[in-house]
Amino acid sequence: MKKFLTTLIALLLTSSLYAGDKTQQAKLASDMRTMLESVVNIQRAGFYNNKEGIKTAAQELIDSLDSLITTDASMYLPENKSNAGKFAKKREKMIRMYAEDLIAAIDAGDIDESLEDYNQIIKQCTSCHSRIRQRMWK
Ligand code: HEC
Repeated sequence: MKKFLTTLIALLLTSSLYAGDKTQQAKLASDMRTMLESVVNIQRAGFYNNKEGIKTAAQELIDSLDSLITTDASMYLPENKSNAGKFAKKREKMIRMYAEDLIAAIDAGDIDESLEDYNQIIKQCTSCHSRIRQRMWK
């Protein structure tokens, strides 16, 4: 009976840890979809010369970056566990910075600067995505 209980407790512990990972993973995926939508909306508004649209979408992007900080990045960047969290936080900081700069550039009517900010945002996304080789969480 004691052994059974220990096994049961161990099982419960593993499954709750597992559930925690799944919740993090689901929130990250959902935030990522919002991030993609914001980036696409920035571009769409740009083609229509819709300045307010660009600014709204850039703000939406800034507001959807939480998961980059709250998710344990060592789970999706297992090759470089010790630096994973630092790397993800840096990407969050850079995306936020370029999105804020993009809003300022639109206000200043500086199209070259706003395009540069947009490119830099996409670079932050791909610098992480290119590292997720197996698309699998460890
Ligand atoms: C620090 C790492 C990191 C950065 C930066 C990052 N992503 Fe992701 N992204 C991930 C991970 C991890 C996943 C989930 C991969 C999986 O589980 O298959 C993901 C998944 C996605 C998905 C698929 C979501 C789904 O439906 O499952 C989209 C879309 C996406 N990211 C867009 C973006 C965009 C747009 C940016 C930049 C604005 C960005 N990502 C920046 C790590 C990152």
